[in-house]
Amino acid sequence: MTSVQWWETAVVYQIYIRSFADGDGDGVGDITGMRSRLPYLGALGVDAVWINPWYPSPMADAGYDVADYREIDPAYGTLAQAREFIAEAHAAGLKVLLDIVPNHTSDQHRWFQAALRSELGARERYLFRPGRAGGEVPPNDWQSIFGGPAWTRTDDGSWYLHLFAPGQPDLNWDHPEVRKEFEAVLAFWFDLGVDGFRIDVAHGLVKAAGLPDRGGPGNPHPAFDQDGVHEIYRGWRAVANRYEPQRIFIAEAWVPSNERLSRYLRPDELHTAFQFDFLRAPWRAAKLREVIDEAISSAASVGAPPTWVLSNHDVPRTVTRYARSQPDGMVESEWERARWVAEAADHELGRRRARACALLQLSLPGTAYVYQGEELGLEEVEELPDEVRQDPTWLQSGRTDVGRDGCRIPLPWSGSQAPYGFSPPGSAASWLPQPDHWGAYSVAAQERDGDSILNLYRAALALRPQLWVGAGDVRWLASADGVLGYARGEAQCWVNTGDVEIALPEGFSVLLASEPGIDGVLPPDAAAWVRARR
Ligand code: NOJ
Repeated sequence: MTSVQWWETAVVYQIYIRSFADGDGDGVGDITGMRSRLPYLGALGVDAVWINPWYPSPMADAGYDVADYREIDPAYGTLAQAREFIAEAHAAGLKVLLDIVPNHTSDQHRWFQAALRSELGARERYLFRPGRAGGEVPPNDWQSIFGGPAWTRTDDGSWYLHLFAPGQPDLNWDHPEVRKEFEAVLAFWFDLGVDGFRIDVAHGLVKAAGLPDRGGPGNPHPAFDQDGVHEIYRGWRAVANRYEPQRIFIAEAWVPSNERLSRYLRPDELHTAFQFDFLRAPWRAAKLREVIDEAISSAASVGAPPTWVLSNHDVPRTVTRYARSQPDGMVESEWERARWVAEAADHELGRRRARACALLQLSLPGTAYVYQGEELGLEEVEELPDEVRQDPTWLQSGRTDVGRDGCRIPLPWSGSQAPYGFSPPGSAASWLPQPDHWGAYSVAAQERDGDSILNLYRAALALRPQLWVGAGDVRWLASADGVLGYARGEAQCWVNTGDVEIALPEGFSVLLASEPGIDGVLPPDAAAWVRARR
């Protein structure tokens, strides 16, 4: 029997570096800020951090437009500080995962600059094509994920592909130099002691031959999930396998099914992948159960751990997702956002459900991801003035989609006024403004309140290794409509998504509950971890 590896059961904390902690007072989070908050992460009890891109970037997409893969953006610090952060995190018992962005570079990357100058062979590293209809019409019908055509025309009349912003030209992964360069970049960071990478748009690198039209929004996209992508990851796995201790990969791959996802997790490919169904599932027991069963069985089919993600920097925060009426089925990405946002959000209800869902998430087998601020119960900030919005989605959609700024607001650490300890006193305003009422959700305020969501997370993370890590399979227990109950080992987790309270099993004591005072009876929108009385 092989022993369990850390990445099969880890709780990974996602640090959105721009918004985590600002050490130098420019209103943008940085490495100095992260270093100063390592004790916070230690007290929280997570096993690893994943840091969103910290490389030099013109910030056309908040750092997902990388200009140099072997350096640190000056707004975030220096390579020397990065080394120190990695060493200090390791000393605090935390693994460090970085974000690698292989689908596209920044338009400021030296390769793209050389391509614009038409240096010999430089354009072949990207996807330049002549236009149609005499050159005026883009080479095919693909749309950018952020809105508008996925092609931009250069001064000399040719077009280049960008599945995201125009400042994010797509690389040509058929080019041997591209493959070689990224394997070298992985080794560069592995040599610095980094424990692994989250792979951005892992399903996008290889495009269908000839870049054919998609033909309609319902058709499979010729830019995604092409079989040729797997060969790339076999090469990456070989790089990781050269290192001791084991370096790992997590795929961000939005693919149509868990079956397609599991292909990325074959033994000679990636170690894990985000399963995103949990963050699209409504607060309804039957749907959650379906999603959980599916995630577990498909991961098991390739010997990978299931992964549980409630939110990240690309989607509305959990509290707000649960603060409105819940659909019966999955919340598709083309959720009728406008209609839904028109409904008033009951954040207190959303927070109760988010607390309960945290206990659900942290009791399941596999790895769990906590996006910074989830442990503080922060809501999506939907009221941002248009002029402060930074997400390229806003402008590229012709100001119809507000995009993702609302889940990227700088964290409140202490005090009753912005910047709530995010920046030192006397600093520049934070890069996105924080709401007036966030003092109540600051780390300091929640530390003083024994019943806060922060203290719930701390208690859950402290109990998790004893109760759930290595506790075996999920065994569903008979339960009323709207209720989830399962046992793993000696412990049970009960979640009530219905409208009526239920009795918890007799002879069991509550070890932890999502609300104070729960004993014997579980109210709606609450969860409890219980164990048989001895
Ligand atoms: C996924 C990242 O999470 C998102 O923030 C980014 O905009 C796109 N990939 C493009 O890199």
